[in-house]
Amino acid sequence: MSATLHGAGHEAQVQSAVDVMQRAYAPYSQFRVGATLVAADGSEFHGCNVENASYPAGICAERSALSAAVAAGQRRFSLHVVATEATEPTPPCGICRQALVEFEPQLQIVSASLDGRRVSYRLSELLPVPFTPASLAHR
Ligand code: THU
Repeated sequence: MSATLHGAGHEAQVQSAVDVMQRAYAPYSQFRVGATLVAADGSEFHGCNVENASYPAGICAERSALSAAVAAGQRRFSLHVVATEATEPTPPCGICRQALVEFEPQLQIVSASLDGRRVSYRLSELLPVPFTPASLAHR
């Protein structure tokens, strides 16, 4: 894993991820997450986790942002910033990795904590052997 620690960079996108994190609906986990997804044309989309009394019906911040982006006609992306209140920056969960790899296998992901810690990954590092549209052809 070649994740790197940074103290700076992408600060506007980190700030918007922190802002949307504060609108998360997370009464069950108390773990609020915000995400900013930057499309190839520079437009930005935001998402937060939205939990549900039927727990599996909840959605993560990253897939919430991805859905907003795709609904707006975007399918190529350059950066995904994820902010939480955890002391350690946290990477996207496995389901979100799979959702993102469908569109941008080399996506840069920056995880941010509120105290200024940053970790940067490539999606291909986080999900090195993905199931892709091409996998469906192997029948
Ligand atoms: N969560 C996210 O929004 N993104 C992730 O990558 C990890 C987990 C949410 C799901 C749930 O609402 C809460 O965080 C605790 O798992």
